[in-house]
Amino acid sequence: MKKVILAYSGGLDTSCIVRWLREQGYEVICFMADLGQGLGKGEDLEAIEARALAAGALKVYVKDLQNEFVEDFCMPSLKAGAIYEGKYLLATALGRPLIAKYLVEIAHKEKADAIAHGCTGKGNDQVRLEVGAGILDPKLEIIAPVRVWEFRSREEEIEYAKMHNIPIDVTKKKPYSIDRNIWGISIEAGILENLEQEPPEDAYMITKNPITQTSYAKYIEVYFEKGIPKKVDGKAYNLKTLINYLNEIGGLYGVGRSDIVENRLVGIKSREIYEAPAATILHIAHKELEALVLDRELAHFKDIVALKYSELVYNGLWFSPLKEALDSFVNTTQKYVTGTIKLKLFKGSCVAVSRKSKHSLYKKELSTYGKEDKFDQRLAEGFIKIWGMPYKK
Ligand code: ARG
Repeated sequence: MKKVILAYSGGLDTSCIVRWLREQGYEVICFMADLGQGLGKGEDLEAIEARALAAGALKVYVKDLQNEFVEDFCMPSLKAGAIYEGKYLLATALGRPLIAKYLVEIAHKEKADAIAHGCTGKGNDQVRLEVGAGILDPKLEIIAPVRVWEFRSREEEIEYAKMHNIPIDVTKKKPYSIDRNIWGISIEAGILENLEQEPPEDAYMITKNPITQTSYAKYIEVYFEKGIPKKVDGKAYNLKTLINYLNEIGGLYGVGRSDIVENRLVGIKSREIYEAPAATILHIAHKELEALVLDRELAHFKDIVALKYSELVYNGLWFSPLKEALDSFVNTTQKYVTGTIKLKLFKGSCVAVSRKSKHSLYKKELSTYGKEDKFDQRLAEGFIKIWGMPYKK
């Protein structure tokens, strides 16, 4: 019998997939990656594992990958300043190559022939998982049941689950499609498909409504070492704890929401809202620190790299040679990105109010308009003449 490793979420789709793959003649092993999505969400993990087994899985792997996720995926993206189309901090997109990596790893360990996932044929995630896995092991067969199976609606899937005694909780019809991990939450579908409709408050899960937030501002200080956040308000944290903590306080002040009509790789425009309090705070602080320590040429060139980097991540090319080469470039730029940025969180906004670094290139004696001025203004005349010379008729 052929063996397949399925990326399992515990939901209706992937539970039906377990049974469906059995019917196609596969032995099914489920893999659940814990990326900080709050696995189970109130439901206990054992119940989810039991569901996979009831649906016909041979065994279930659950792996806590949160540390690897933040260290090897979120941090490189933060250092690169990667933000897709100016608004999306890529939480979902960064998670997929890591899931692909473990699907392949478990497939090797279990001597499986194939891997499978529950993504639809219209999204980016199928691309990220399949291209990622394909780079790591081109020989593995890939099965995407949702693209080919017979079910046309959620109701038909529920019918199928009932028929096969798969214990599914069908009482709560979810109004949105949600993907969550420690770096952020992606929310789409339902009423959000109407572009003229402001996202209702109930669509947001971890950020409070900025309007109804306290009229007091919250100040926080983030300390970075070589581009990596190490301390908040002087206290050292490991990355996972630091991000959870910033998600919490950022969320309280309504920081990190975005609402975007984005360009999917498959050519569709889609409306999605995101919540990423910690990632937002860290991207803003990191950029402010770079403004202090990178020279102009490097800073401007790095912005071009950031744009490309965000496209590679979004388009599923995490394991590509270009992404690897860009990482080398980005890491070189982070040598002096050490220092402290103080931020003010207030009714959904997050702005830097103070900056400090031992590598700062800011020289007060050059920029000042006071009497300590060391800038020889007479030199400007010649500089301007030569600078503008090529453009004079
Ligand atoms: N649009 C985002 C991306 O392509 C998130 C996709 C998953 N979103 C969701 N709500 N299930 O990365």
